[in-house]
Amino acid sequence: MENEGFPGELFQELTKKGQAHLVQGWDKLSLDQKGSLVSQIKKIDFDLILSLWTNRNNTAPSLAPVDLAAPDFFDPEKEPEEEANCRQLGNKALSQGKVACVLVAGGQGTRFGASVPKGCMAVGPLSGKSLFQMHAERILALARRFGPSIPLLVMTSPATHEATQAFFAEHRNFGLFPDQVHFFCQGTMPALDWDTGKVLLEAPGLIFASPDGHGGCLAALAEKGWLKWMETKQIEQVFYFQVDNPLVKIADPLFLGHHLKTKAEVSSRFVTKERAGEKVGVFAQTKDGADGSRCILLEYSDLTDEQTVSLAPDGELLFRCGSPAIHIFSRRFLEDIAPGHARLPYHLARKKVSFMDETGKLVVPLTENALKFEKFVFDALPLAKRWALVRSLRHEEFAPLKNASGKDSPETVRAGILGRNRAWLASVFSGRGIAFSLPDDCIIELSPLLALDAADLAKQLELTDLDSLLSQAKGGSLHLMAAGE
Ligand code: UD1
Repeated sequence: MENEGFPGELFQELTKKGQAHLVQGWDKLSLDQKGSLVSQIKKIDFDLILSLWTNRNNTAPSLAPVDLAAPDFFDPEKEPEEEANCRQLGNKALSQGKVACVLVAGGQGTRFGASVPKGCMAVGPLSGKSLFQMHAERILALARRFGPSIPLLVMTSPATHEATQAFFAEHRNFGLFPDQVHFFCQGTMPALDWDTGKVLLEAPGLIFASPDGHGGCLAALAEKGWLKWMETKQIEQVFYFQVDNPLVKIADPLFLGHHLKTKAEVSSRFVTKERAGEKVGVFAQTKDGADGSRCILLEYSDLTDEQTVSLAPDGELLFRCGSPAIHIFSRRFLEDIAPGHARLPYHLARKKVSFMDETGKLVVPLTENALKFEKFVFDALPLAKRWALVRSLRHEEFAPLKNASGKDSPETVRAGILGRNRAWLASVFSGRGIAFSLPDDCIIELSPLLALDAADLAKQLELTDLDSLLSQAKGGSLHLMAAGE
C-alpha cells in the first residue's frame, strides 16, 4: 500500500477533507521526512482554511465613508506645551526600562526581489550601513541617553530566520549586547489551489508554506513566551516597527509619552497622504457606538474608489492619515487579546505558487493559481477601547524601501535620508544664527549613534565649530558620527 504506516485516522480525515493527495510519494520518504509530513499536516486547521477557500470570492464589502469618520489625532506641532509634557513622560518611561521594541522582518521582499533579507540592504548614503544597523544603532543611542538597555525582538520567518541571525552575529549585533537582541520566527500558513481547495505540495513530504503576515507577531509573541518574558522584566510598552523604513524614530519619547498620557492601549503614528492613490493604509474612526469609537486602519487595496478620493469639508482627503506602520501597544493589551488572536481575520490573496502535481512534476504556473492567507497587525487596532493617533512629518519619519526601482526604491530612500539629515543640520545652523550654505548636492550622513532628532543633534554639536563643518563639507560630503564610532 502506498500510504502504509501513515496514521490511519489522519488519513481518513484527509480523505474526508479532499486532501488525501498530501501523502503522495509517502512510501519513498525517509523516516524523518515521514515524521515531518505528519507534523506539518497536524498543524493545519483544515476546517478554517477550507471555509476561507469556500468564501474566497466574497470579499468583505468596504465600509462606506458614511460609516466612518476621519480620525481624531494629536498634532505635536500645534501644541508645543503638550509636546514638552509628553516628551518628559516618554523620557521617564525609557529611563525606567519600560519599553521593548519589536521589529517585523519576516517578509520575503517579493516586490524588491533581493536574495537576502531586506534588513541587510545597505542604505547609509556614505557608510553603506544596512537597515538593520540603522535600527540597532538608534536603539543603542537610546540606551546611551536613557540608561537601561532596550530589548530588540526581531521577528523573522522561516525564509529569513537564519540569514538574519547570521547577519547580526557577523556584525556583533551592531554594538547591542547579546542579551538585548532576540529573534523569534513567525508562523506559516499553507496555500490552496484556487480552483480545487487542495493544499499545495512543494515536493514529496513538503507542504508549501508562507509567512502568516505581520499580524502573526501577536500570536508568536504570546505563544513563544515573549509577553511573559516582558512581564518579568517589568516592560509595559511594546514599540512596533517595520524593517523597511530607515527613518523610523524608534521609541520616540514624544510618541511614547503621548501614548502613556492618554493611557492608550494602542497608539499609531500617521503621515499625511501625499496623493489620493498613494499605496498606504489609512486611519479612520468608527462613529461613536455603545463602547465609544474605535480606530480602524483601512488597507489601500480595501478602499473603494469613492473612499480613496472622498473629500472632507476642509477640501482635503477625508482619509488622509496614512500609516507608516509605526505603533505602540501596551503589553497588557497584547496579553488581553492574545487568547483571541484567532479573532484577527485572515486576508486572502490570489498569487502564483509553484507546486508538485499528482505525477510528481513541479508546475510553475503562468497565472495566479493559489490562495494565500495573511494576518495584519493593524486589525488589532479596533480591539482597543483607548487609542491615540499622533501626527508625524513624512520627511522626518517615512522613507520605506519596497521596490527595486521607482517609488519607494533605493533612490527614494536615499533622497529621504539625505533630505532629513539636511533639515536637521540646517535647523542646528539656524538655531545658532549661522547661514547654512551647503550646496544642494552635498551628501550628508548623520549616524543614528550621534543624534536621535534635530534637537538632540543641536545638543551634540553644541561645542562644535559649525564653520569648520562647512569647510569639511567642501569635498561634497559630510559624515557626522558619534565619538568613538
Ligand atoms: C505596509 C502596510 C501599509 C502601510 C505600509 C507602510 C500591510 C498589509 N500594509 O504595506 O498599511 O501603509 O506598510 O510602509 O502591511 N512582514 C513580516 N511577515 C509577513 C509579512 C510582512 O514580518 O508575513 C513585515 C515585512 O518584513 C515588512 C512589513 O511587515 O517589514 C510590511 O510588509 P509589506 O508586505 O511590505 O507591507 P506593505 O504592502 O509594504
